[in-house]
Amino acid sequence: MKVTVGVTGGIAAYKSAELVRDLQKHALDVHVVMTQAAQHFIQPLTFAALTGHTVTTGLWAEGSDQGDAASAIEHIDAAQTTDALVIAPATADILAKMAHGIADDFLTTMVLATTAPVIVAPAMNVNMWNHPATQANLETLANRNVRIVAPDSGYLACGMIGAGRLAENNAIVEAVLSVLHHRIDLAGETVLITAGGTREALDPVRFLGNRSSGKMGYAMAEAAQRRGARVILVSAPTALRAPANVEVIPVVTTEQMRDAVLSRLDQATIVIKAAAVADYRPRAQADQKLRRSGPLTLELEPTEDILAAVVKARRPGMLIIGFAAETQDVLAHGRDKLLRKGADAIVLNDVSREGVGFDSDRNAVTFLTRDRAIELPELTKRELADQILDEILTLRRPRHLLSESDTDLSLSIGEQA
Ligand code: PMT
Repeated sequence: MKVTVGVTGGIAAYKSAELVRDLQKHALDVHVVMTQAAQHFIQPLTFAALTGHTVTTGLWAEGSDQGDAASAIEHIDAAQTTDALVIAPATADILAKMAHGIADDFLTTMVLATTAPVIVAPAMNVNMWNHPATQANLETLANRNVRIVAPDSGYLACGMIGAGRLAENNAIVEAVLSVLHHRIDLAGETVLITAGGTREALDPVRFLGNRSSGKMGYAMAEAAQRRGARVILVSAPTALRAPANVEVIPVVTTEQMRDAVLSRLDQATIVIKAAAVADYRPRAQADQKLRRSGPLTLELEPTEDILAAVVKARRPGMLIIGFAAETQDVLAHGRDKLLRKGADAIVLNDVSREGVGFDSDRNAVTFLTRDRAIELPELTKRELADQILDEILTLRRPRHLLSESDTDLSLSIGEQA
């Protein structure tokens, strides 16, 4: 797993070298980002030698007077591929910037761009630490789930005694390992995910399609990869960048998606069908562009049901999760699909709701199994993906360990069947 250590400008910056070493002892791939101030206290070369990676020291390529496009988007790449970002030492200055969303260098930009857990280990003068502004900034960060490794008390570099000394490395390493531990609960799983909307050609320039952007499926893929799974993403056309360390198989039509899914099924332990698959395709595809000449009647035929084929070919222990996008009688249609398709769960979208569902960055769903209906709150798709994965993992747990507050639907489902 990849951990990024952000080093900011304080006397304690020299201790970050030892922190890098201690993280490496846990088989973590450590990368380092330094602020400009940090470079007054310790050289990037030290970290480059320790990590074997280039140390990032600025937003722009060295020696370039105009910047270069590759380096300008590097912070996004770094932010997306790291599994945790730990800033040690964290000065009062970086805490203030983080609390206010300021992004004026590589490290602060990365803080905004990452969805990985962020840990800060502050180190500063005791009066700066106790200042209401610093304490308010820490409270803001804690409310945003930034993990704070409190400084120790003792003699400080400024000659004063009090709180503000960088926490011991073992406390910082422990915090990093604990956030990573939560995220490696899919180690050993191979998750096969479909995403986007399939397209069925009418002629060489037109197709029947739908409004799926692929965002939900890609968020699932990124979350599963971050939690240690091997991920295979079968993707219909989207405008999205492939998540890091995920095997992407691009497809266009429903038939191609089915072939790609079935050919990889023997490797999968969990199948998640987030794609919006075309239910119909034109019976015949015109060789040449159709010309406009009065009304046109299209004859459509049903496509193959990929989810049904997956259920038919399932191996023992394999979990199969479908998605459903509904506009009315949402729960009833969801239950019907769950039973008819034979999946272990259906993630149910009410796509008539404003601001969620197709193409939105946010979603709110019901996780529906044969005996439970769990409403998950409106969140970003990336946040929701983790909650959906949490629910999927409960399907591997013995029934008696499930929460009693889960709604029991067994009776109503039984009646429908
Ligand atoms: O991509 P986004 O813009 O982020 O939007 C996300 C989403 C709303 C598309 C996604 O969350 C979602 O709900 N996907 C499923 C949409 C859908 O097609 O639902 P359905 O009710 O038509 O199909 C039910 C299930 O059967 C789905 O898992 C689908 O992949 C599967 N199916 C459907 C038809 C078919 N021929 N083969 C299938 O496997």
